[in-house]
Amino acid sequence: MNIEQAIKQTSPFTLTIFGITGDLSGRMLLPALYNLALQDLLPESLRIVGITRRSYTVDKLLGRIKKTIVEEGGAYDEAVLENLGKRIELVTMDLTNIDGYIKLRQRLDAIEGEIEVCANRLFYMAIPAQLFDDVVGYLGDSGLNRSCPHGTGQSRLLVEKPFGYDLDSAQTLVKRMRTHFEERQIYRIDHFLTKETAQNILTFRFKNALFKSVWDKHCISRILISATEALDIEGRANFYEQTGALRDMIQGHVLQILALITMDMPDVFTSKAIHEKKRALLVAVEPAAYERATRGQYNGYRTEVKNPDSYIETYAALRLSIANDRWKGVPILLRTGKALTKKTTDIKVIFTDHDEPKFDNILTIRLVPNEGVSLHLRAKKPGFDDVMQDVSMDFYYSNSFAGIRQPTAYERVLVDAFRGDQTLFATSEEVLANWRIIEPLLVAWGKDDSKGLESYAKGSWGPIVAAWDCDKYQKPGK
Ligand code: BG6
Repeated sequence: MNIEQAIKQTSPFTLTIFGITGDLSGRMLLPALYNLALQDLLPESLRIVGITRRSYTVDKLLGRIKKTIVEEGGAYDEAVLENLGKRIELVTMDLTNIDGYIKLRQRLDAIEGEIEVCANRLFYMAIPAQLFDDVVGYLGDSGLNRSCPHGTGQSRLLVEKPFGYDLDSAQTLVKRMRTHFEERQIYRIDHFLTKETAQNILTFRFKNALFKSVWDKHCISRILISATEALDIEGRANFYEQTGALRDMIQGHVLQILALITMDMPDVFTSKAIHEKKRALLVAVEPAAYERATRGQYNGYRTEVKNPDSYIETYAALRLSIANDRWKGVPILLRTGKALTKKTTDIKVIFTDHDEPKFDNILTIRLVPNEGVSLHLRAKKPGFDDVMQDVSMDFYYSNSFAGIRQPTAYERVLVDAFRGDQTLFATSEEVLANWRIIEPLLVAWGKDDSKGLESYAKGSWGPIVAAWDCDKYQKPGK
């Protein structure tokens, strides 16, 4: 069954968006809904209920969608937008009072009366994290955690990070959500997992015989995962002062990628089996050690956030170990940072021949830019002499899949939530395992103020001590 048929055959849906007039909805979610409508990938009887605290109109929303589509050079179709508009209605309510939820429930019941069928109910939390607790609680108290009165549909919750602030708060959040929703109802978004190149990791590793047999400590001497950004914090001072690079990027995105790169092969490629292998891997990762981590802050950050004493890290690099048979003794290096030389998200897997340790075969999986995979090899240079030269074998999405449009992260998130596929979402166990890995650093870095905080120039590669890009990576001896 192709994706169009699969979506057509999903049960009817109501999609309730908390925060429909906010930034995330305007930039990502609504354009994604438009793009899905354009490709005829919305469930047939989908109705969208937008929750807002201010008075707003559907026309204004459509205007914002049009602006985004046009600015991004997408295919604009007036009729598609108009039809999307017909599916949307707005409800003004106060998120901190149960009355609104009761009215919302009555409205959703009424919609299902109109379409004469029990729908699945999808709730999208495009709201600040501080409101999660209230909204989840009221959804439960008003019975919106269950579907229609006949109980044949399912209520699903789509949530954005942050999933907590540290291990303790994440445990509380998980417990609180579990009071009202079962794990199979919760879709925790990690947009890195929706990137095509991230999805390709399991295919690459497990569907190519060549790599399956060499993917362990016997052949691989290091793994480096890098998620560097050229952009600085872009004025998000409040958010960043409470977050920092470790929470913002390592806790979710980078550790999820690490799990995909190092997990064992599942017996079957179902969501449950994949998540079980990811969980098993993440619990085997040893908690990060202070002596094996580096943090930095770009020059000018303190002025930007108007906090001369800020010790929030805009750069984090750490070396982890995995205590299992496959990876024992293989250093795993992670780094991320803002205001660095350029944006790159990639994974380098270093194959070392113990008889020839001076040369490494480096396998690079690029998520951004130039999506694809390259293998760094040694070849004999043509000529009479026996001279060797390093060469590269490359796969680029732009060549091999030319002309194929990649769905955006939010298109993927919505389609998977409609069809009930949780593979690309983070489970509560993964989230907690990730917090456990970084917890010692959160504690240490939170306590000792700016001790050990390195400063770096904007546009550089970050603190010199952690300069470990593949050609000249530091020997991990710290
Ligand atoms: C977000 C972080 O989750 O991911 C941002 O909050 C970061 O700080 C962004 O810039 C990076 O995502 P991408 O897809 O641009 O690499």
